[in-house]
Amino acid sequence: MSITAPKGTKDILPEEIFRWHKAQQTFADVCHMFGYEEIRIPTFEDTNLFQRGVGDTTDVVQKEMYTFEDKGGRSITLRPEGTAGVVRSYIEHGMGNLSGPVRLFYDITAFRYEKQQKGRYREFHQLGLEAFGATGPEIDAEIISVLDVFFKKMGLKSIKLCINSIGCPTCRKAYNEMLKDYFRPHVDTMCEDCRNRFEKNPLRMIDCKIDGEKDVVKNAPRLIDHLCDDCKDHFEALKSRLDNLGIAYSIDPNIVRGLDYYTRTVFEFVSENVGTQGTICGGGRYDGLVESVGGPSTPGIGFAMGVERFLLEAEAQGIPFEKPDYTKIYLAGMSDNAKDVVAKLCYDLRLNGVGCEQDLMGRAFRAQMKYAGKKNVPYLVVIGDDEIASGVVNVKKMEDGSQTEVKISELVEYCKTNL
Ligand code: HAM
Repeated sequence: MSITAPKGTKDILPEEIFRWHKAQQTFADVCHMFGYEEIRIPTFEDTNLFQRGVGDTTDVVQKEMYTFEDKGGRSITLRPEGTAGVVRSYIEHGMGNLSGPVRLFYDITAFRYEKQQKGRYREFHQLGLEAFGATGPEIDAEIISVLDVFFKKMGLKSIKLCINSIGCPTCRKAYNEMLKDYFRPHVDTMCEDCRNRFEKNPLRMIDCKIDGEKDVVKNAPRLIDHLCDDCKDHFEALKSRLDNLGIAYSIDPNIVRGLDYYTRTVFEFVSENVGTQGTICGGGRYDGLVESVGGPSTPGIGFAMGVERFLLEAEAQGIPFEKPDYTKIYLAGMSDNAKDVVAKLCYDLRLNGVGCEQDLMGRAFRAQMKYAGKKNVPYLVVIGDDEIASGVVNVKKMEDGSQTEVKISELVEYCKTNL
C-alpha cells in the first residue's frame, strides 16, 4: 500500500512555491518597513502555555490541539497559533526591558485538528506579528495598516476589513451577566458547546458555529453597545485613525474571535472567494495575556494571516505571479574535453551569481537542446573542440535567435553584466 500525505496536510510543489516566496518576502519587507523584526519560535511548546494563553474554553484548546506525551513524560503540543509562543518568548527573554514597543513578526506553520475543507487544513501557515507595550489606539491603526500595505504591494484589488471592540474585563463582566440573563430561558435548547460556554464564557455563544444562525443568537445584545467609557473612547479613536489613513472598514459587532485572550479591538480581513473559510486574517488587542502567562502586566496586539487562504484569494483575484527564471543560461558540451570546460564555467558562473545548467544525464546534443527548450532557459552556449581551440563562443538569445561572440575567458563577466 502506498503512503500518502496525512489528511489535512499539503505538499507545496515547485510549480507553486514561488507564490509563497513572493508573499513571505513581501510580508517580511513590509514588516521591516514598520520597524518589526523577525522571531522564530519552537514548533512545539509545553501544553500549559496554550491552555493558559489561548484559553481553556476555546475550540482550539478543547478540540483541535495536537497534544502528546514525549519520551520524558512531558505534555507537549504542536503550536495551534503563534501568539502564545511569542508571548512566552517575550517573557522568557526579558524583552519587557527593551524600549517599547517591542515589535516582532513571524512566518510559521501551525497545527489544528480541524475538518479539512477549502482553505482549512490541519497543518497550515501563518504570517503574523505581535507588538508589546503600547496601550493607545495608534498602534491598533498601525498594525491594520501593515496589512493594508501588504495587500496593496501584493496587488490585491479588494478585501474587506471588519472591526469590533469586545471591551475590557470591566465592561465584559457586566455584559456577560446581561448575556446570561438573556440566554438563560433558551440555553436548554442550544448545542452542547453553547451550554458549556453559558457558564464559562457566554460571549463565545455569539459566534457559535452550530447555533450562530438562530434568531436567539442573532438578536442577543452586542458588547459594542455596552462598552465602558474608556473602551468606547479607544474604539472611537481607532476609527478616526483609520479614517485619517484612508483605510475603509465596516463595524461587525459579531466578531468575537475564537481565542480567549482578546480585549478591546478585534478585527478580521474577509473575502467571499475562499469558500466558507472567508477570514484571511484575524487579530486584535490582548492586554491581559502577558500577565496570564506569568509575565508583568503588558499591553499587546497582533494578527495572523493564513498564507493558504491569502493565496487562494490572490488567485481568485487573478493576481499574476511571475515564476523567476533562476537558470539564465544553458551550457552544452559537445565532447568529453568540452564537458570539462563547461563544468568549470558553470562553477565560475554560479560563484558569480549567474544561474546556469549543464548536462548531467549523458544526453546527446539534440536531447540537450530539447531539455533547455523545455525548461525555457533564455540563453544558450554550445561548446565543442572548435570553440575551445578558437577561445570564442556564441551566446544565443533564445527569444529572437540573435547571437553574440564572446571570448571564453570573458564569458563569466559577460553573463554577469548582460544576462
Ligand atoms: P486565528 O483567527 O485563529 O488567529 O488564525 C489566524 C488566521 O489563520 C485565520 O484568519 C486563517 O486565515 C488562518 N487559519 C486558522 N486556522 C486555519 C486552518 N485550519 N487552515 C488554514 N488556515 C487557518 C490566530 O491564530 C491569532 N494568533 C492571531 C493573532 C495574533 N491575534 C493576535 N495576534
